[in-house]
Amino acid sequence: MMNTIAVITSGGDSPGLNACIRAITRTAAYYNIQTLAFLRGYEGIINNDVQVLTRESVSNIIHKGGTILKTARSKRFMTEEGVRLAAENLKKNKVDGLVIIGGDGSFKGALELAKHCDVQIMGCPGTIDNDLLGTDFTIGYDTAINTVVEVIDKIRDTAESHDRIFVVEVMGRDAGLIALRSAIASGAEALLVPEMKHDVESLLVKIRGWRQSKASKIVVVAEGDESGGAFKVAELIKNNWPDFDLRVSILGHMQRGGNPSCMERVNASIMGYHSVLALMEGKTLQMTGIINKKIHFTPFEHALKHHKALDKDLEKLIEILSS
Ligand code: F6P
Repeated sequence: MMNTIAVITSGGDSPGLNACIRAITRTAAYYNIQTLAFLRGYEGIINNDVQVLTRESVSNIIHKGGTILKTARSKRFMTEEGVRLAAENLKKNKVDGLVIIGGDGSFKGALELAKHCDVQIMGCPGTIDNDLLGTDFTIGYDTAINTVVEVIDKIRDTAESHDRIFVVEVMGRDAGLIALRSAIASGAEALLVPEMKHDVESLLVKIRGWRQSKASKIVVVAEGDESGGAFKVAELIKNNWPDFDLRVSILGHMQRGGNPSCMERVNASIMGYHSVLALMEGKTLQMTGIINKKIHFTPFEHALKHHKALDKDLEKLIEILSS
């Protein structure tokens, strides 16, 4: 019997989290379930920093970036003592079900928490990196890639005016999926991502060919690429061809902010809604995702660690279209 559910946002924030919180709260209210929110992710559960969410308190948030519940990467939750305290507080608040909106680290935390309490736990994939298995798109990815494309379009304007090469670094600590899609959509001339190994050499071969041309060139580098990031790539190019007119642009945390796109809001709402239904059906320790427009539940241990392989077809496409 689900009487009380709790919700947290945990790990790096992403656009669409508020839409998901709203859907969870309103679905629960519809079924006469109380919703509690712990602030700042696991840290809030440890501190018992809790508040009640109502239909009204989640009004006018669907369009907002960030998270009204705040978020954190809790160091204390990585200790046995922290997990134990969190389990006690869930019990104290009579929480029957918990929805965690977060990424890889947050779901690993959920598996630990489950060892200390019998609260049912569901997850919604919230990260701009799109690096979880069990969903086509994580909450935040669509907005982030649109932000990146908008910015690269602007960089292209100035690059074109000056006939410059720009090395643009985008987020993705372990995954190149933000880089991949934004490179295709912005017509980038080269792409460096962790999933495509030893690509720096082929980049140098490509760049040698650019010496004759007077056009702008954009190289998109994922933060986690083995090249070491945009400054390293720029250094490499400069070491080989000091006369190249080249600039570096690190896009940084702007990629995590902004109003969520329409697709983001819809997906986040669907995932939040289905997570509550899943708790009511007795499900636990699973992530609610969407694959081919259908709801898909993936056990936490399968959703994490395995990074999505790049779509080979898209890799080929980028090779052809950027040549
Ligand atoms: O949310 C994932 C992510 O965006 C990574 O791509 C990036 O490396 C990381 O967060 C940075 O997070 P923070 O600056 O909050 O530690």
